[in-house]
Parts: sequence; structure tokens; C-alpha cells
Amino acid sequence: MQNILVTGGAGFIGANFVRQALQALPECRIVNLDKLTYAGNLANLAGIAEDARYRFVQGDICDAELVSGLFVEEQVDTVIHFAAESHVDRSIDGPAEFVQTNVIGTFTLLEAARKAWEVDKSSPSPQPSSFRPCGSARGEGVLRQRFLHVSTDEVYGSLGETGLFTETTPYDPRSPYSASKASSDHLVSAYHHTYGLPVLVTNCSNNYGPYQFPEKLIPLIVNNALNGKSLPVYGDGKNVRDWLYVEDHCAAILEVLQKGQVGETYNIGGNNEKQNIEIVQTICDILDEKVGVLSSGEARRSLITFVKDRPGHDRRYAIDASKVKDELGWEPAVTFEEGIVKTVEWYLGNTEWVASVLDGSYREYYEKQYGA
Ligand code: NAD
Ligand code: DAU
Repeated sequence: MQNILVTGGAGFIGANFVRQALQALPECRIVNLDKLTYAGNLANLAGIAEDARYRFVQGDICDAELVSGLFVEEQVDTVIHFAAESHVDRSIDGPAEFVQTNVIGTFTLLEAARKAWEVDKSSPSPQPSSFRPCGSARGEGVLRQRFLHVSTDEVYGSLGETGLFTETTPYDPRSPYSASKASSDHLVSAYHHTYGLPVLVTNCSNNYGPYQFPEKLIPLIVNNALNGKSLPVYGDGKNVRDWLYVEDHCAAILEVLQKGQVGETYNIGGNNEKQNIEIVQTICDILDEKVGVLSSGEARRSLITFVKDRPGHDRRYAIDASKVKDELGWEPAVTFEEGIVKTVEWYLGNTEWVASVLDGSYREYYEKQYGA
């Protein structure tokens, strides 16, 4: 039995991962540690709470006692670290929470993992790149396998018209969010070089799909377009992102976890660059087709409104994912054309979920922007 500590498993990618991992790894047990911020919702995990191989713990990754206690209590041998403040706009309005969770939280988790990492005292030079056998527990933490840190392509900064981010692109974070993620990536890497902690880092492009909180571009536009509200496009709408269906990201994480080389970084992307305006127009057209045009008789594209740009808005992200393909055999399975239709259909079928997640502290902010 592999005991996996997932942090942030009640968020968008974490919840998709927990679902997929319970299916894909029949021998694993998952402990999900999540603070349940505005972005974390137990509704994202509906149907799995009863699974005997799953346990939910509400708590903060910055709580050193709680985290260290979990390593011992649950004999955690593997960590998949998703928990973070994840929204760039919020990091511009209030960076403190990003430094707290993304930097201090990751540091706290690393410290707990380090204590649990059993270094073979007889060996002057531990060999962290090999899996250690799970065996006797000595009443202490047992991180014997891997600490996989889930990060973002935003750490690399912004691209011009051409070029791709590779694993050796120098870090150049430009928002408080990406700076906090870059900082956490460096800490994770330092714990490998200094203490031999068996870490892996993944840097992924923009995800989309079920359970994404409707503050991010795709679910925000779906929800607003469905309800006849304005569709805010920042700046000229020509900023480019590389979009990846969330289940493909989760599959890549499982590959990296099982086959990745300890100490390495893997870039994950969808080979799917789109300008924001194309995304917004595509969603409008899918909705017009599926639920009919607006009651005014106008197409949903008429709701598009160009608004003031995001400060420091990165122009273009694009990932070179050839390392994860060549070394681990991972490639995205879902095309954007399929994924975006599946996503719109999921939101159409889950309007209660949208209403429930918008019911918390986010509602006030949302209604100020877009009306009740
Ligand atoms: P999300 O905002 O949907 O979920 C974050 C989760 O972390 C929530 O469940 C929240 O309750 C939890 N959390 C926040 N602070 C916490 C704390 N202090 N202690 C415990 N739990 C806490 O985020 P997401 O989009 O699912 O992203 C997950 C991870 O993937 C993040 O690390 C993010 O940087 C990274 N990432 C996201 C994307 C993307 O497109 N969404 C792309 C690449 C990488
Ligand atoms: O690249 C990976 C990153 O992708 C992740 O690390 C982040 O956690 C995730 O939030 C995402 O960051 P972005 O800033 O790219 O995502 P967001 O959905 O906020 O915005 C996507 C693009 O759409 C971006 O260029 C800004 C633009 N945008 C966004 C919103 C919310 C708009 O034009 N209008 C909007 O209302």
C-alpha cells in the first residue's frame, strides 16, 4: 500500500487528481489535506468520501505540527503538493496570502518531509534517485518515495512571438503569484540538493475542465455567457496561453510520479496555443449552438467587452513538452476542440455546483463586477 499525502485536493486540479489516482493506483491510499479556502470545495470530491482508501483532513499546510503529525500517523511515503493560492488577479490585489501559502506553506511541508525522509545513516552518500523499499515503520515519518511539487509555466516569465519554455529556461516570474511559485520551486530543488529529498517538479501550462473555480477565464466566460453577463477580455485579447485538459495534466503527474527521475523538472503542456479572444469567441459559439442565442436575439459574442488590462500581463506562454514525451511517453490525449466542448457541457450540467461554489466569500466580489 502506498500512502499518498495530497495537498490541495479539494481544489480544481487536486480533486481531478484524487479521482484519477484512486482509479489508477489500486494499491494507494490518499490523505487529502486542504484548508478549504474559497477555492476548495468538498463538492469537488462528491462520491469519493466513502472510499475506504481516502481520508479528508481540513487543515493548513502552514501548520507544522499538523503536517508533521500526518506524516507519522498516516505513514506518508509520497507527497503530491497542489495546495496554493492560484489566481494571478488575486495575487495583484493581495499578495500576502500567496507568500504565506505558496512559500511558507511549501517550506513547512518540505521540513516535515525532510524529517520523515529516512536517510540511511550508514551511507555517507545517500542515493535518493532510487525508490526505497517500503518496510518497517519505526514510529517516525517514512517519506521513502517521492515529493512531487506541482508548479506552473508562469515561473518562466513571458515569451515574445516565438519560442517555447523548456526546463532550462531561466526563471523570470513577473506577478506575485508566479514569484511565490518560483520561490517554492527553488525551495523544493534546494531540499533535493542539500538534503537528498527525493523531489520531482512539474511546470504546467493553463488547465481547463470540470471543477475549475469560475474566476478563471474559461469557467468565468462560460458562466457569464450562459447568464447573459458581460464577458471581460483584458487588453486587446491577444495574450496567448497554452491550454491543457485537466485530466491530461493529472495523467502526466501520475507518469512523472511513477517514472520520473528524482531531482528532475518536467514541463507539461498541451501544444495548444490560443489567444484569449479566440477562447472567448469559441465558448460563445458553443453556447449559442447548445442553448440558443440570447433572448434579445443576439449572438453571445455581443457580450464581449474589452476591459482594462491586468497589470504586468504576461503576453505569451508556450511549453516545450518534449522531455516528458520522450522520456516518459506522456502526451495529451484530449484535443482542445474536444476538451472545450466537454467542459462547456460539464458546466451546463452542473449549474448547482457553480451556484454552490459562488455562494461563499467570492460572491460579493463577483456581484460587484458583474451584477447579481
Ligand atoms: P485551486 O485554487 O483550484 O485549488 C487550490 C487548493 O488549495 C484549494 O482546494 C484550497 O483550499 C487549497 N489551499 C489553499 N491554501 C491552502 C493552505 N494554506 N493549506 C491547505 N490547503 C490550501 O488551484 P488549482 O488550479 O487546482 O492549482 C493547483 C496547483 O497547480 C497549484 O499549485 C497551482 O499553482 C498549480 N497549477 C495550476 C494551473 C492551472 O491552470 N490551474 C496550471 C499549472 C499549475
Ligand atoms: O499558466 C498556468 C497558470 O494558468 C496557472 O499557474 C494559474 O494558477 C492559472 O490561474 C492560470 O493563470 P492565468 O493568469 O493564465 O489564468 P486566467 O484564467 O486568470 O487568465 C487566462 C488569460 O485570460 C490571461 O491572459 C488573462 C485573461 N483573462 C482572464 C480573466 C479572469 C481575461 O482576459 N479576462 C478575465 O476575466
